[in-house]
Amino acid sequence: MYRVVGGPPLAGSVRVSGAKNAALPAMAAALLTDEEVVLRNVPEIDDTRTLSRLLDYLGVKVSRPEAGVLVLRADGLHTTTCPTDLVATNRASFAVVGPLLGRFQEASSTTPGGDVIGQRPVDIHLTGFVSLGAEVDFSADPLVVRAPNGLQGGRVFLDYPSVLGTQNIMMAACLARGETVIVNAGTEPEIQGLAQLLTLMGAKIRGAGTQTIEVTGVPRLHGAQHRIMPDRIESGTFALAAAISGGDVDVEDAPSQYLDSLLAKLRAAGAEVQARDGGIRVCRSSPLRSVNFQALPYPGLPTDLQAPLSAVLTQAEGVSIVHERVFDNRMLYVGELRKLGAEIVSAGSVSIVSGPRRLHGGRVRALDVRAGAAVVLAGLVAEGETFVEDIYHLDRGYENLDTKLQSLGARIERVQPGKD
Ligand code: EPU
Repeated sequence: MYRVVGGPPLAGSVRVSGAKNAALPAMAAALLTDEEVVLRNVPEIDDTRTLSRLLDYLGVKVSRPEAGVLVLRADGLHTTTCPTDLVATNRASFAVVGPLLGRFQEASSTTPGGDVIGQRPVDIHLTGFVSLGAEVDFSADPLVVRAPNGLQGGRVFLDYPSVLGTQNIMMAACLARGETVIVNAGTEPEIQGLAQLLTLMGAKIRGAGTQTIEVTGVPRLHGAQHRIMPDRIESGTFALAAAISGGDVDVEDAPSQYLDSLLAKLRAAGAEVQARDGGIRVCRSSPLRSVNFQALPYPGLPTDLQAPLSAVLTQAEGVSIVHERVFDNRMLYVGELRKLGAEIVSAGSVSIVSGPRRLHGGRVRALDVRAGAAVVLAGLVAEGETFVEDIYHLDRGYENLDTKLQSLGARIERVQPGKD
């Protein structure tokens, strides 16, 4: 667990790592070719390690010649069946299904199932595969997706602009016969990042980043080298750490062009924000003001920053109303913030934060990676010691969160449970 001692405003500069949610589908994309795919700026976090293990199990040669670099070659697959444990612990592992189906005409995986932030079904992915001619029994577990005669491009309407769903269908469509049009596609930057890699591999994709993506199938893809984009959610987390602590932090490499929604809210809440190409500086010297916000698909405010921003609003003057509109159960962290003295209540997908409240230390849990970030942020300003348990969730998604925060002057350390 982490031990966080509240107090000092954060100051200095910190460099963000490669984006978790861009790295994971990029790793899965290596399955689309028998040639080498070299990925740089891959964050060393548990989620990328778990997916490496899954790719290795499938028969992909995975090597890591230096920190942050992954070399993947899928030239001798043993199986297209994913082991249950590796999909159950990392939902993004389901991103291998699209490429496996596209290249080998079959894939099998357990249903990833719900998790603490919501039900998270995969029906949109499966409906998309069916629109491309695949057969699948939606109620089977493990799910088996097959296209014995190969995939045939077609029009694919997504019931909701699912991020991984868009990525999975886009990857499958790369090797389908003919043209695929994905309607109501996700527009997240990580989808554009994946399209860039696929294009380098020889895919024909237009419109990634818009709600309509067109893919013209090609017979084969080849190897490529690609740099993973910097993590916009990690960037936002450090920006929020600066705001809650009343500090002055330069977030190097932050993709400011993808953070408009957060930066607008930070300014409205009273922080000073300077955005430039490849970085943002956030400082705050006056009291925070309440703001209302909704978590939405991109370019709306990311659901992954909903809990961390709410933690900051516990210190803002006035009442903030927060509406989570992406996941059906992403308010559980509210109970953890309350343990630290926050005045925050939730009903369904809405929460109401009243502030400012002086927070005190306590013992809380990281319920998921972003809920964990929220309680760490609260701990930075709570009086006394905050113990954050279950930080394996944070280790899944943030690279060296503790040492990066320490470099900004935060008092945070990893301790063994039972040693408090
Ligand atoms: N949904 C369905 N059916 C589907 C797929 C999704 O109903 O087949 C629903 C989900 O239940 C949810 C909504 O659609 O209510 C959005 O889910 P989406 O599929 O867009 O999420 P995801 O692709 O599974 C990615 C990120 C998440 C991030 C969301 C939203 C990765 C590996 N994960 O998940 O990241 O919150 O997009 O932006 O890219 C995190 O990093 O902490 C994290 C949870």
